[in-house]
Amino acid sequence: MVGRLITIEGLDGSGKSTLVAGLVAELERRELPVTALREPGGVELAERLRDLVKDPSLEVSARAEALIYAAARAQLVGELVLPLLEAGRFVVLDRYIDSSLAYQGAGRELGVEAVAQINQFATGGLAADRTLYLRVDAATRAERIGERGEAADRLELAGDEFFKLAGDAYDELAAAEPERICVLDGAAAPEVVLAAAIDAISELLP
Ligand code: TYD
Repeated sequence: MVGRLITIEGLDGSGKSTLVAGLVAELERRELPVTALREPGGVELAERLRDLVKDPSLEVSARAEALIYAAARAQLVGELVLPLLEAGRFVVLDRYIDSSLAYQGAGRELGVEAVAQINQFATGGLAADRTLYLRVDAATRAERIGERGEAADRLELAGDEFFKLAGDAYDELAAAEPERICVLDGAAAPEVVLAAAIDAISELLP
């Protein structure tokens, strides 16, 4: 039996964590085997790389940043995602390659194609079966991030232009791959987003 990889994408503040929790609860309710993971993270090496890449006191060049995310991803895929899929589980992954394409490829202006290549190497070409992209306007994002009241990490300190480029890149990726990437309204109520997400993955469910 082969599992399914469902990835959740969107800018910070688009509601990914809420959707992941809702999806997992729904799949469990249907008695389907599911594991939720986040990037960067999920395994020890990737969690440590997460601390490094988010640390505002470190200088991290754009290329180093892209490679750190790719290294964390390589370890997560090899150590956990592939074995889980081979065991027939649904894996709900909070961010995957599209995050690097949007944030490093477009936001850091490294080029989407260059970043796609290092990620092809990192993952051995493992692609998501379905990607749910939470699209959200700048005002809603700002409101949600402000409500969290947490200190900004190194990525969140990047300016508005960075997030504008990353958001536009997500839109372009979604337009280029409509079969894989389903666009959801991140500003809608959580139950509305969840219903749309279930609908978008329905053909993957038994
Ligand atoms: P996190 O706190 O998980 O943010 P979020 O809840 O928005 O996912 O931090 C992950 C940060 O790393 C987030 O700002 C997005 C960024 N990121 C990249 O720039 N490239 C990547 O490939 C990934 C996976 C994350």
